[in-house]
Amino acid sequence: MRTEVIIIGAGPAGLMLGRLLELAGVDAIILERKSPDYVLGRIRAGVLEQGSMDLMDRAGVGARMHAEGLIHHGIELSFDGDRQRLDFTDLIGRHVMVYGQTEVTRDLMAARQAQTIYDAENVELHDFDTNPYVTYTKDGVTHRIDCRFIAGCDGFHGVSRQSVPQSALNTFERVYPFGWLGILVDKPPVADELIYAHHARGFALCSQRSPTRSRYYVQVPTDEKVEAWSDDRFWDELRARLNPETAEALQTGPSIEKSIAPLRSFVAEPLRFGRLFLAGDAAHIVPPTGAKGLNLAMSDVAVLADALIEAVSEKSEAGINAYSAKVLDRIWKAERFSWWMTSLLHTFPDTGAFGRRIQRADFDYLASSRIAQQSLAENYTGLPS
Ligand code: APR
Ligand code: PHB
Repeated sequence: MRTEVIIIGAGPAGLMLGRLLELAGVDAIILERKSPDYVLGRIRAGVLEQGSMDLMDRAGVGARMHAEGLIHHGIELSFDGDRQRLDFTDLIGRHVMVYGQTEVTRDLMAARQAQTIYDAENVELHDFDTNPYVTYTKDGVTHRIDCRFIAGCDGFHGVSRQSVPQSALNTFERVYPFGWLGILVDKPPVADELIYAHHARGFALCSQRSPTRSRYYVQVPTDEKVEAWSDDRFWDELRARLNPETAEALQTGPSIEKSIAPLRSFVAEPLRFGRLFLAGDAAHIVPPTGAKGLNLAMSDVAVLADALIEAVSEKSEAGINAYSAKVLDRIWKAERFSWWMTSLLHTFPDTGAFGRRIQRADFDYLASSRIAQQSLAENYTGLPS
């Protein structure tokens, strides 16, 4: 079998790239190791920057997002109970859209006409310096697909980045000494906007999926076990970390999902190896505190799609030659912002008295400076691509 582009991974990065190539008439096959239900079953964040909203519209899959997504004009930061709202629309004339990553994935899957091979096991990449091809097994049969380019959109644990010789790859990593314990509950959100809370007991986040479904997180040590957290213990801990009025307003109930996610910052460089390109979580990981994971994956594939469309139509290789440097510039800025939000809002075992004072001063500066608030608003709503 032969195609122009093989995309490894049917997460939001792979599906959006597949959609943009399909609309441009470029043949592309997506190879996904899991089933469609598994891919859709993963609970992930859901804050879209303007750039990601525009890309959903460009891809012709924005209708349900506009119909069901929630426009948010700001967020609230809470520091040991002191509250500061950041009105993005007043500060910089922008907003974000709360629309779950699962819904983005569902919309892209529904729109896809071209071939997606699910349950593709043992995916292996070959000769991506010269004449690339990929092999995989399905139902016990080994298959080979030849192509011109491979897009590695297979996430942090995927095969694509692992296929790159160590000597050709630089990686930069910060693993945080805590994780996020998150629950999903069918109760109205505690507030109209997201609340990011710093507290001496640890970070907390009040988020939402719809007017009737909420998502809450509390910071826990990395080695914490989810079994150790009953719903009641979760609600008590969340209340303890929020401003008393917010805690009072919290509508609690039985969790329908509960899990712990580790926090890390990770970047691989470069992001092109001959005819192999990395995008999304295969290339970088951000801690979720800045709501950048999905948006970075979207901005990567917007650049990669244009570059591959240009190269396949033999107009020029300028785009594919510039891909790595161009997206890494935006990736490092989003890494900085996500690291900064994480440093401001979490309690670190080794912070110490001086560190806590600095966190407090950081918050007080934010609360007192319109310029500082505009900077946060610009980064949160999405830097220009
Ligand atoms: N072969 C085929 N498919 C694979 C392989 C493999 N060896 N390894 C992983 N995959 C698939 C996974 O099953 C998954 O469906 O690649 C897909 C990668 O999807 P994501 O992990 O969602 O990564 P990405 O599309 O880059 O989306 C990034 O996801 O984790 C969030 O915060 C992150 O929001 C960001 C978004
Ligand atoms: C979420 O809704 O799951 C969410 C929102 C914002 C974040 C992280 C997670 O920064």
